[in-house]
Amino acid sequence: MFVPKTDNQSDLEEPCRNPGPWQCTICTHQNETSYISCELCGVLRNLSLYFNNAVGTEGGAKRRNKHSGVSVLARSLFSPPSPKSKAVVFSDGFQGNTNTTGYMQASLDALHETYMTHKQRRVNIVPFKFDTPSPDDMVSAGLKSFKHVRKVNAEAPSIDSVDIAGKKVMDDHDLVTQDAHTDPSSSAKLDELGGNGSSVDVHIQNKTPVLDDELQHLSLEGKPKNIKAKIKKPVSVSQYKAEPWMLQGEDQKMPRQLNLAIVGHVDSGKSTLCGRLLHALGRISKKQMHKNEKEAKEKGKGSFAYAWAMDESAEERARGVTMTVGVAYFDTENYQVVLLDSPGHKDFVPNMISGATQSDAAVLVVDASVGSFESGMGVNGIGQTKEHAQLIRSFGVENLIVAVNKMDSVEYSKERFSFVKSQLGMYLRSCGYKESAISWVPLSAMNNENLVTVASDTRLSSWYDGNCLLKAIDSLAPPRRDVSKPLRLPICDVVSSHMLGQVAVCGKVATGAIRSDSKVLVMPSGELATVRIIERDSSRLNLARAGDNIAIGLQGIDPIHVTSGGVLCHPDYPVSVASSLELKILVLDITVPILVGLQFELHIHHAKVSASLVKILSLLDQKTGKASAKKPRMLTARQAAIIEVKLEREVCVEEFSALKALGRAFLRSQGITVAVGVVTRVPEQVQV
Ligand code: GTP
Ligand code: MG
Repeated sequence: MFVPKTDNQSDLEEPCRNPGPWQCTICTHQNETSYISCELCGVLRNLSLYFNNAVGTEGGAKRRNKHSGVSVLARSLFSPPSPKSKAVVFSDGFQGNTNTTGYMQASLDALHETYMTHKQRRVNIVPFKFDTPSPDDMVSAGLKSFKHVRKVNAEAPSIDSVDIAGKKVMDDHDLVTQDAHTDPSSSAKLDELGGNGSSVDVHIQNKTPVLDDELQHLSLEGKPKNIKAKIKKPVSVSQYKAEPWMLQGEDQKMPRQLNLAIVGHVDSGKSTLCGRLLHALGRISKKQMHKNEKEAKEKGKGSFAYAWAMDESAEERARGVTMTVGVAYFDTENYQVVLLDSPGHKDFVPNMISGATQSDAAVLVVDASVGSFESGMGVNGIGQTKEHAQLIRSFGVENLIVAVNKMDSVEYSKERFSFVKSQLGMYLRSCGYKESAISWVPLSAMNNENLVTVASDTRLSSWYDGNCLLKAIDSLAPPRRDVSKPLRLPICDVVSSHMLGQVAVCGKVATGAIRSDSKVLVMPSGELATVRIIERDSSRLNLARAGDNIAIGLQGIDPIHVTSGGVLCHPDYPVSVASSLELKILVLDITVPILVGLQFELHIHHAKVSASLVKILSLLDQKTGKASAKKPRMLTARQAAIIEVKLEREVCVEEFSALKALGRAFLRSQGITVAVGVVTRVPEQVQV
């Protein structure tokens, strides 16, 4: 066992004092002389650097290698939890615990972030051009679809005295959408289908094949091979009975988690709004904010200082564009809110899908400025205001707050706000949002107008007396949670080390509940693992229930068996695994018809897989929604059909009628979402 050094030797001197190749203490890999950390597992050559920081000295923190995630992960997962452990906050904001032996236990959140940074170290960055996706676009987008924002003040008080009105339980019913203004006759069909007939005016380059290649090449998760089944004979879900600990008990009065996706067109101000909100709620320290402001100004990006609270990577900051979903937390009176700040740029729609698929409700941020709102609506052929609104509706999100941002740039004009509301409102209704489920909030993220308190600028307060954004969030209808079904947790991200045999995953519990020390079945590999740690926002939990967005440390499983897009299940009730599917789809506004044989990218929860269209089984009648006898060889815009698709590899999936969260599908080709749909049948059950 490693014993931390106690002498005062210089951390940076160590490698020089023992020149020559060196063997990693943790994984035993032989490293070249010049490496200060292990090429294979990232552990520093001089292990004492990990512990010199624990005293919180400024110098120690500065010298600490920021790529030391694997070792931190190792210690966190393998050192036994101690009742005497105490929190340590490093001067650079990194948080962890020291136990009685002096080892550090870092939060999974911190580990995730640190280790993901380590992975990105291998990426060669080339000059960025939006029209031609660069390798780092692809790698960043694929390797890290999520980032957890840790620059928050853990002691921040929760907001009180927010008055709640008109609550009703949010119903996660079918994808009831329709383009009523263009084709009222097809309402029935679309209600039946669960899709959307509205236009998506996007022209996005297809980088999927390359992305997949890159991921195969770079991912540390590896690819499970010849996996032997370890699951017992599956039991029918109808026989499942929830145990008492899974049901809401004493903690029933606790605020519940609300997963809130922040979506909208590029540059509409999503990250600035999130940063401003967190700052106003005391979740970002003054020191951190000052640092962001100073650095943003130095880099000529002064207006992005608040956005930097969410956009943490060097690429995002240099480009002023969010690339991965930023995750941050704050509390209202009724909710523990998980903010999911999505990228708005068209190139990162797959990442946006990965985040928004977890959301219970959404804030659609719209730029009110003249020209910008119109561009989000697709006047120039590119409009993520429309695409995002449509996608999140297809995910089952019903309750929407439209934040009409940058009102300062239009002098807080009531007329402009009304124009935005009428234009966008019409489109949202066509997507299937109910008028009563949409709140419209005019605000200025930059000027902190109408975010957490009522508007103070008289140009706004003279005509608007509705909810500020925070109150609108707190007034959202509580999402429905299903703890009566067996555990299903779609894995969003995985942090793993092959050499050290440890793994941490994060995602939202779709159904059921999970608790520490329990066994879970990891699908599609069919391997069992033990839940070692459950965390939310760096706080340890004993259990989590449906709806909770959490990070989990798993033990007793080889990391190659844990992949993003997989699902953690109750050991007796495995999720279905399939390599072909029957889907009911609605074709969006495409210009090139979908032909049998088309290769596309299929998104189901966090799984992304190459697929091909094998058969069009039937066209759905425009008026009745019923299957017609026609079996066309191609599909055109706004047609609905039942199709059969073949997947390149198995995915975890459920029929939509059984579990909506695992039964929604999105078809993307050439960088465009070409169809949305639901899984109607899982014809071939792969025996794992
Ligand atoms: P992506 O994530 O890349 O889609 O962008 P975003 O929607 O997160 O936008 P971001 O927060 O990065 O802001 C884009 C620009 O809009 C920045 O220059 C901000 O300063 C500016 N901005 C954001 N909110 C406001 C606002 O309320 N008023 C004005 N005038 N500018 C704003
Ligand atoms: Mg952003």
